[in-house]
Amino acid sequence: MTKNVTLEDIVSLCKRRGFVFQSSEIYGGLAGFYDYGPLGVELVNNIKAEWWNAMVRENDNIFGLDSAIIQNPKLWEASGHVAGFTDPLVDCKNCGARHRADHLAGKDTNDIKELTTLLKDKVCPTCGKKTLTPPRFYNMMMKTWVGPVEDSSSVAYLRPETAGPMFTNYENVRETMRAKLPFGIAQIGKTFRNEISPRDFIFRVRELEQMEMQYFIKPQAQKKSYQQWRDFAWNFLTKRLGIDESDLQWHEHDKDERAHYAAAAHDIYFRFPQGFKELWGTHDRTDFDLGNHSKASGKDLGYYDDETKERFTPFVIESSVGVGRILMAVLTAAYHIEEINGEKRVVLKLDPKLAPYKIAVSPLLKNKPELVAKAREVYELLKKNPLYSNGVMWDDNGNIGKRYRRQDEIGTPKCVTIDFQTMDDGTVTVRDRDTTKQKRVVVADL
Ligand code: GAP
Repeated sequence: MTKNVTLEDIVSLCKRRGFVFQSSEIYGGLAGFYDYGPLGVELVNNIKAEWWNAMVRENDNIFGLDSAIIQNPKLWEASGHVAGFTDPLVDCKNCGARHRADHLAGKDTNDIKELTTLLKDKVCPTCGKKTLTPPRFYNMMMKTWVGPVEDSSSVAYLRPETAGPMFTNYENVRETMRAKLPFGIAQIGKTFRNEISPRDFIFRVRELEQMEMQYFIKPQAQKKSYQQWRDFAWNFLTKRLGIDESDLQWHEHDKDERAHYAAAAHDIYFRFPQGFKELWGTHDRTDFDLGNHSKASGKDLGYYDDETKERFTPFVIESSVGVGRILMAVLTAAYHIEEINGEKRVVLKLDPKLAPYKIAVSPLLKNKPELVAKAREVYELLKKNPLYSNGVMWDDNGNIGKRYRRQDEIGTPKCVTIDFQTMDDGTVTVRDRDTTKQKRVVVADL
């Protein structure tokens, strides 16, 4: 279970150790945009690789895609996003601030009537005055123009979910991979949402990365596949990322909360520092997307079943999760404050396969050339070892105690120190991140 980790703890660690920086920080930043630093990139890449393995490489019938961020805007008209990708919003007539109406009302609902009632006596959280407008819908898609002319004929959207192009590529993938139902298309990529109130660090941002998979099925497989992909999400978080079950819970969307394309939705909530919040969604999208794209494009996206000799529009079960939210969940779950011999330490108990660095190599003293040369030799040797998948760090900054603290904070599972005894007997000290125990090991056994 995550123990009293605050959002400030996570934000401060991310900045201090180079996981996440505010974007364009020297200009005061930009709300809802973040940059991943040297450690963040490694951790995120490891998370994405784990998902890609579990989703694509280990499943014969799931195929990868990397589509363009900008698509023909007709895609987003047919998918219902131009009309329906909205959040409810209220303006403050006094200070001009804008707030998510459902957040302010404290209820996940898109029912404007209900929100109006719930917000009747609310004051603006920014200025404290009772000057809020009635709630209204606001479209969250980000717009741009394609080509040199900036008019309505050149308007295009930055994709608000990676799903859309997976539907428009359904037939391309089915044909080229000779796929039969059920099969899936998966992709990892950037998406953009003009969130009204980005907040809680990287939890709600305007530029995000999603890992999504659309599973195309026969309509009668709807229930079974829905359960299959709910189980996948739960097992991935607990078994492959090492998140404790007590930090997760299911949340079923009621009708007013569901996205316009979903007939059913189950989220996994994680115990973030700010409370239990949405981490991963499984959605039953029925034949909504392929049906709409068939109608709007004039291209029949139906499926002919050789066995039953029937033609129908496949149904879709979607698995969707934000990379940033997984990163935040992984950091929160791994963050521990411990006291050892009266000294406090912060330690990230990351699964070794996620850790940005697997092992750090140090000479005991930086001003002893023979120790440094031997340590360099060990470092080069370990870099060649596939066990450490290039995650070997050279660390000769500060004294040994400080190095251990730093490596604990970035989750490096093992630290190797080369000392005077190494010169005599060829052994080095290996220190374990979680137990802090040290043992002597022959270099060849590393
Ligand atoms: N294709 C379905 C879809 O996009 P969603 O519930 O809107 O569904 C899926 O988003 C996941 O993407 C969420 O569960 C969350 O992990 C992540 N996500 C959505 N909006 C986000 C935002 N503004 N900032 C960070 N992550 C977000």
